[in-house]
Amino acid sequence: MEIVVSGIRPTGNLHLGNYFGAVRSFVKMQHEYHCFFFIADWHSLTTHPRPAHLHQSVNTILAEYLACGLDPEVATLYLQSDVHEVAELYLYLNMNAYVGELQRVTTFKEKVRAQPDNVNAGLLTYPTLMASDIIIHRAAKVPVGKDQEQNMEMTRKFARRFNQIYDVAYFPEPAPFHFSDKAVKVPGLDGSGKMGKSEGNAIYLVDDEKTIHKKVMRAVTDAGPTEPDSPKPEPIQNLFTMMEIVSGSDTYNYFNEKYNTCAIRYGDMKKQLATDINAFCAPIRERINELIADESYLEKVIRTGAEKASASARNTLNDVRRIIGFG
Ligand code: TRP
Repeated sequence: MEIVVSGIRPTGNLHLGNYFGAVRSFVKMQHEYHCFFFIADWHSLTTHPRPAHLHQSVNTILAEYLACGLDPEVATLYLQSDVHEVAELYLYLNMNAYVGELQRVTTFKEKVRAQPDNVNAGLLTYPTLMASDIIIHRAAKVPVGKDQEQNMEMTRKFARRFNQIYDVAYFPEPAPFHFSDKAVKVPGLDGSGKMGKSEGNAIYLVDDEKTIHKKVMRAVTDAGPTEPDSPKPEPIQNLFTMMEIVSGSDTYNYFNEKYNTCAIRYGDMKKQLATDINAFCAPIRERINELIADESYLEKVIRTGAEKASASARNTLNDVRRIIGFG
């Protein structure tokens, strides 16, 4: 079975956009590949030297992914910082990574602009740590967003370079798997674009019924169509797209018909949409809250994951040490 690795940054709660993007893709992949999914807590040190609430955000993320259907019996779920072999491989990769090429990485340049007072070496070597995360399990595929394209190119370059320098065919070159190509794109509720945390238009999986209702009722609309069968402006299309995702087709068709006959009342549509979003989120939300309350279970998941991931990492590192020439 092909090996898949992906990292999750421990930032913020999951929203519906994440759910229908990365998360559902992970849940599906766990049955088709041998999957390693980890929380990238070391990477968070590149921007936050003393990450506040790290323990809490790790538990929250873990609970949210589990509630969405990641199964610790099927996939290996672990914390990056639990697998020390990753750090040793990072060290070896850094010896064959050049400052010039690392400085040319776009995300590095963006971070230099964003935090000019903290341009640390970890930030520069973010791509070698990411490469280490991936090749430590000799992965074939990496589900990532389009923004990770350059980091993936670096990973392939470092894997290839290792093979060349030591004259082996040891590391496969992992291919990015862009789930966004297949994923349902969830629109934002502020009239344009897609749902995202930074856009401030997101509905989070942990939002309660009242919050969902408030957010949906605030969604941008207009005065309504004046001619039958008018095309839908973007904010209106977004509401319909959302309805297509979470409501039944009867509901969708009902409001679509109302729109096409200029009889739509957006207030009614939003009320229905809020109800349907809540119906969709409620079981996931309840499960998240149950899991967060069960610290000993979360601990067990993390401990089991660490053992499985470490076993795989140790295998690779034994080979790597031998290949490089350590006894
Ligand atoms: N860089 C990724 C991001 O910003 C997170 C990440 C770290 C990752 N290590 C990884 C993703 C390994 C895939 C594989 O989202």
